[in-house]
Amino acid sequence: MKPTFSVDQLNRPEVIRNPYPYYDLLRDQSPLFGYRDYPPGTMPGVDEPKPSWVVLNFDDVAAVAWDHESFSSRDSLQEESSAPTLMLVNHDRPEHTRLRKIAAKVFQPSSIKALTPAVDALVAACMDDFFVPDRPVDVMADYCAMLPSRVMAFLFGMPADMDRDVRNWATAFMLSADITAEERQSHNREAMAFFERHVREQMDRIDRGEQVPGPLLDAFIRTEVDGDRLSFEEIVRFCMTATVAGAETTSFYLGNLIAVFADFPDIWQKFVDDPALFDAIYKETLRFHGPPQRLFRVATRDITIGDADIRRGDWVACFFGAANYDPEAFPDPYAFQLHRPNASRHMSFGYGIHRCLGAPLAQLEAESTARMLRERYSGIERTGEAVWQDVSLLNHGLARNPVIFRAQE
Ligand code: HEM
Repeated sequence: MKPTFSVDQLNRPEVIRNPYPYYDLLRDQSPLFGYRDYPPGTMPGVDEPKPSWVVLNFDDVAAVAWDHESFSSRDSLQEESSAPTLMLVNHDRPEHTRLRKIAAKVFQPSSIKALTPAVDALVAACMDDFFVPDRPVDVMADYCAMLPSRVMAFLFGMPADMDRDVRNWATAFMLSADITAEERQSHNREAMAFFERHVREQMDRIDRGEQVPGPLLDAFIRTEVDGDRLSFEEIVRFCMTATVAGAETTSFYLGNLIAVFADFPDIWQKFVDDPALFDAIYKETLRFHGPPQRLFRVATRDITIGDADIRRGDWVACFFGAANYDPEAFPDPYAFQLHRPNASRHMSFGYGIHRCLGAPLAQLEAESTARMLRERYSGIERTGEAVWQDVSLLNHGLARNPVIFRAQE
């Protein structure tokens, strides 16, 4: 007999630590109603989450994410909360189309590729700061926390010593920091006040014909598509969005990638022997240990999925993490397998019009990290228990990830 487990228990700490066996208990009955949890940017203890549908099958998750007309990304809970709403992530068409056109030009692959030397330099400096060969280290405490924040600080032309601020703003917004609602609000206010001042200063410098530091902010200010540019307000909110959407998920992803190398020595060895395997390792890690577990949508009309009659206005939690472990889509999902024929179909960057815009940047940080680990160390070993965070199901990632990097012989 299957153990009793119901959809309203999905936000329990033991589920957040390892949600996949629990998804298996519910997948056949999905969509199910009655899950309550917090979208990014809302305030546990202040905002009241709406009861929502839970979608767990790969096909249904893909259908909901793809059908942006029936499932809106606008988040009334976040709009009513004191936190700033996110650019693109929380926009529907037609605003989404306009903003995405400009943002897609900012994030075009050639511009991201041009950042490689700068990202490599930040990766090297971060490894110099935090890793000592043959000495145990918790990579979550420093490297994984700080690298994405330093990359963001660099991309926005912020003083380098603000990397810790970026980190704090991101964890507060993405709910992975276990802090009070007042502290969360104070981080949001501080971030918005900083970006308002900083963007204004940089726009004034550009008006005076000066060069400004921070290639991403520079591009947000200057990029024009069909005569259309981002307003001051929009640029500020883009900075906030990239900070919280980019830094936090990438921190967890880097930790998950290092855990794969530490926990599957054969994968590390294959990568050492053939660095061209990175692409396959990167994709399977996104499926196997994908950071975002679920995001919400709101039904814009009555619609039926499977046996569920979803009503206009109902909340729907799209479980990307459960889709990644659907055995119908990915046979033997608990096995880390290189060369799955459908490796690119993992859902960890979402699907449809909202698919992650920053994916090439996340890949650049991950690829540079893996390449430099291979160049600098002879091996990675686990030195203590890997502990998964259990604060929010928004992201699946490690709270503690103790490893040792072995010196080159
Ligand atoms: C491994 C790291 C990352 C993961 C797993 C990830 C995941 C995601 C997911 C699942 C979505 C879809 C949201 C939805 O459907 O509602 C998304 C959207 C987005 N991501 Fe990422 N992300 C990562 C890194 C980044 C980075 C580094 C940036 C920017 C610097 C970024 C910026 C964005 C933006 C702007 C969107 C909204 C796109 C839109 O709605 O059109 N992400 N991301």
